[in-house]
Amino acid sequence: MRRLFLILAAVLLLSSGASAAVCPDIIIPKPVGYEVFEGEYILKGDGSDIRVHSADRNFLRELKALSLKDFAYNEAYRLIVGKRGVDIYCTGDVGEYRARQSLSYMASFSDTLSFCSIVDYPRFAHRGIMLDISRNFRDKDFILRQIDVLDMLKMNSLHLHLADDAGWRVEISSYPRLTGYAAWRKGKEWTEWRSSGKHYAEQGSPEATGGFLTKEEVAEIVSYARKKNINIIPEIEMPGHSAELLAAYPEVACLSADGKEKVFSSDVCPGNEETFRILEGILDEIIEMFPSTYIHIGGDEASKSSWKECPLCRKRMEEEHLDGVDGLQSYLVHRIEDYLESKGRHLLGWDEIMQGGLAPSATVMSWRGTANGIEAAAMGHDVIMSPNTYCYIDYYQDAPLYSPLAIGGYIPLTRIYSYDPLEGVPEEHFDHILGVQANLWTEFVPTEEHVEYMLYPRTFAVAEIGWTPQTEREFTSFRGRSVRLVEQLKDKGYHPFDLANEYGDRPESYVKVDHLARGCEVKYSKPYSRTYSADGETALTDGKQGGWAYSKSDWQGFNGDMDVTIDLGKVQPLHYVGAWFYSCYTNWITFPERTEVWVSEDGENFTLASTVTCQIKEGRESGTMYSLFGAPVDVTARYVRMLAVLGTQPQHGFVFTDEIVVK
Ligand code: ACM
Ligand code: ZN
Repeated sequence: MRRLFLILAAVLLLSSGASAAVCPDIIIPKPVGYEVFEGEYILKGDGSDIRVHSADRNFLRELKALSLKDFAYNEAYRLIVGKRGVDIYCTGDVGEYRARQSLSYMASFSDTLSFCSIVDYPRFAHRGIMLDISRNFRDKDFILRQIDVLDMLKMNSLHLHLADDAGWRVEISSYPRLTGYAAWRKGKEWTEWRSSGKHYAEQGSPEATGGFLTKEEVAEIVSYARKKNINIIPEIEMPGHSAELLAAYPEVACLSADGKEKVFSSDVCPGNEETFRILEGILDEIIEMFPSTYIHIGGDEASKSSWKECPLCRKRMEEEHLDGVDGLQSYLVHRIEDYLESKGRHLLGWDEIMQGGLAPSATVMSWRGTANGIEAAAMGHDVIMSPNTYCYIDYYQDAPLYSPLAIGGYIPLTRIYSYDPLEGVPEEHFDHILGVQANLWTEFVPTEEHVEYMLYPRTFAVAEIGWTPQTEREFTSFRGRSVRLVEQLKDKGYHPFDLANEYGDRPESYVKVDHLARGCEVKYSKPYSRTYSADGETALTDGKQGGWAYSKSDWQGFNGDMDVTIDLGKVQPLHYVGAWFYSCYTNWITFPERTEVWVSEDGENFTLASTVTCQIKEGRESGTMYSLFGAPVDVTARYVRMLAVLGTQPQHGFVFTDEIVVK
């Protein structure tokens, strides 16, 4: 009877959710150092068992020995859990805050803690996320909810992309058309807006969808974040990605060559003084709303096309002795930097702000890989690393076939976690690398649930990259902690990606295929793209098939049709020739309309052995797909020529393939 009672009690305990004592090995980001001791302590829950000791001499001595930089020193803490409760040692408020975060992180899993001691401080000063609320608007409450997660992860920066072609998202009193018109559009989702002609709408009109943050809402976001030691960086795009600004205030548009008409591109006119008056007026209000030292001015992907013809731009280039349109962009960035510096703020911009000469105190956000960031650091500029090769979380995080539509690419948790912001940076420039950020562009992310799905768990990786020493990071442990945090976020009503059921990379990419053409020489009648060369001449017969990501070494790209011939070395019977192709409309990669296989015994006289026609009708928004173009043949040959013909496919551009398999 007693045994039965004990079993029943154990079952009740388990089913009531009581869990074993937790220790620091559950925390994301993983603390710098910790020890776990024999014994457990149950938190009282009212805080009366937490004692804070500022400026403890032993702790200060220990920190001094570590030669921490100022930011790390300020955030450093020691946390001890013992039989009398919790003791926190710190250098100031932020350190105490970080200690309490570690405590509440553990307590969110169980109020029973193992006796333990933690010493902790961050690796980088900047640990952030960029959220694009222009392409699909997200409101104040949603942003506050995401700040709660960033907080739990000890992150300290939320960069809001507030302005882009698809909508202006923040109240500017002096320019009411920005929110009375440019914040509203026909087409609720970005994809609808784009495919229906990119029209804006008057606020309150029946077709208007969108929105913006009012000044009161911004104040609430900024103050909520500040209490959690999170800085909100506002981004106002210029000179490109500004079609909505031109629509609301055509004064900032370029003129046609004859000076008679406005040109509505996405770029503002740096030749016109009115452009600077309006931009500075907008920045005045941004500065008033956001206490951030950094004001992000975008700077990416300006087409600069209207500048070549515009008489005002031409005049400016001549008078200021500027080196073409890049010089003109640099002129704008320099002027805006001077303006921000005069207000005690610093300019932050995407790495294109380096084109034509970087403004003297600008900080660069490196997104087109890492090379620009490394170069800027070598020039003495501060840099935040957010390379699209690791930190673009608008890319797929799992098999495209089983995922909601994304912009393309493939950055699973393991890939983002593998990033080290100091990789490739010479040691003497380490201090210029302020930290790391992941960017969530939302062209293909229309709902709140979908934003959370893209953010989590990949944001956990950014937190740990930014906080934990490189030598202490290890993916298997991180993944286990991430699965647990994903479950907790789900319990709290968030919609993270279900990491526990991750499909993983393309199965074909894990095993080499053996076939008759493996290792054989390939002749290219049309060259492969130098940018997407994979492993060069051997890529198509090396037995390696690609993963979900085309930018990796395994997929070879052709700018137009592919035409290659493989020499099998000897005449032999052949039964099958085929190759996988990759398609991603948003990246201008398409399936060929057909593949043709031609064979020859002498390398001169070829006969057609098979034709495979594409069976997939690509929609404009079809996402990423993979398709096998393969067919049986019944021939004897030494040479196999494969042609991939784009023909009338809707989106001309690249074809990508990974291996030509001959059996
Ligand atoms: C960017 O992704 N265009 C900064
Ligand atoms: Zn112009």
